[in-house]
Amino acid sequence: MKFLITGGAGFMGSNFIRYLINNYPEFQVVNLDKLTYAGNLENLKDIENNPRYEFVKGDIADEKMVDKVMKKGIDQIINFAAETHVDRSILGAKSFIMTDVFGTYTLLEAARKYGVKRYIQVSTDEVFGSTEDGEFTEETAFEPNSPYSASKAGGDHMVRAYWKTFGLPTIVTHSCNFYGPYQYPEKLIPLFITNLVEGRKVPVYGDGLNIREWIYVPDYCQALDTIIQKGEDGEVYNIGTGERKTNIEITRLVLEIMGLDEAMIEYVKDRPGHDRRYAVNSEKLRRLGWEPEHSFEQALKETIEWYREHQDWWKKLKSGEYLKYYKQQYNR
Ligand code: DAU
Repeated sequence: MKFLITGGAGFMGSNFIRYLINNYPEFQVVNLDKLTYAGNLENLKDIENNPRYEFVKGDIADEKMVDKVMKKGIDQIINFAAETHVDRSILGAKSFIMTDVFGTYTLLEAARKYGVKRYIQVSTDEVFGSTEDGEFTEETAFEPNSPYSASKAGGDHMVRAYWKTFGLPTIVTHSCNFYGPYQYPEKLIPLFITNLVEGRKVPVYGDGLNIREWIYVPDYCQALDTIIQKGEDGEVYNIGTGERKTNIEITRLVLEIMGLDEAMIEYVKDRPGHDRRYAVNSEKLRRLGWEPEHSFEQALKETIEWYREHQDWWKKLKSGEYLKYYKQQYNR
């Protein structure tokens, strides 16, 4: 089985490629990644010379490039490639539309042309909008609130249309928030850990009471694997853990684990259009036999440990373009 994994140099894609290569000796992976600011081949140093792994630098929105890669004999496509950061989408949405909508379309066309066995869309719970006290099911209507989630919703709708119109075998997954090793330090958890290691304060948006549901990356890899093995074409699966936390709870836990106090918290201007609460109903996936193995607190400790031990990895990232973004985002 040969997989095309797009965006495989990013946080989730690289973790999942490592998982596939290490757990399935018969699987081969072609990793197509544009190497934007969030793509980093160092994430895959340990498997870069594996004969079952191949890296191709390229953009999923580049039709010629995608066509060239498909000629390698791809059986399944898993589309991790995306612009993913909500705050950046507020600063400028064009790259989100190009990658998350047009890039998805390009891959779907290639999947159709080459008759792949399956196309899996990696997507987000954010397409459902915000829920005060309910849960998102696979049937919940899309109500995206940020340019990021609107772009993902556009791509997901296109996947659905290719299943309905052309019978392309597709699966869409909507996951809650990820965390763990190799996450780019712009997202809440790695940003806060790395800021604290550097002796900087952590910027909490608004009142800190927004709620997210969290999944540790090894649990996510097993969830996606379960969907690959047991999921059905044309279906949608939510991926969630039930670990729902306010941002301030997480902030306090990180501070406690790192032996620091609340003086390191800085409340800053809220994110425009900030979704209040996400909560994912993942019963459909659990009926396939998956459940998470890690508790939030233990996994958070392991994540903090990883960032403490891999300072060379993230310190390199917190320079150049990152500093410009940070200034624009936080010193407004
Ligand atoms: O729900 C899944 C989504 O989770 C993914 O689809 C997105 O790609 C991913 O970026 C993430 O979106 P969020 O906006 O929830 O993640 P982020 O880490 O940016 O923020 C998590 C929460 O923390 C959110 O309520 C905003 C808040 N936050 C974030 C940052 C970066 C802060 O309070 N301060 C910050 O500096």
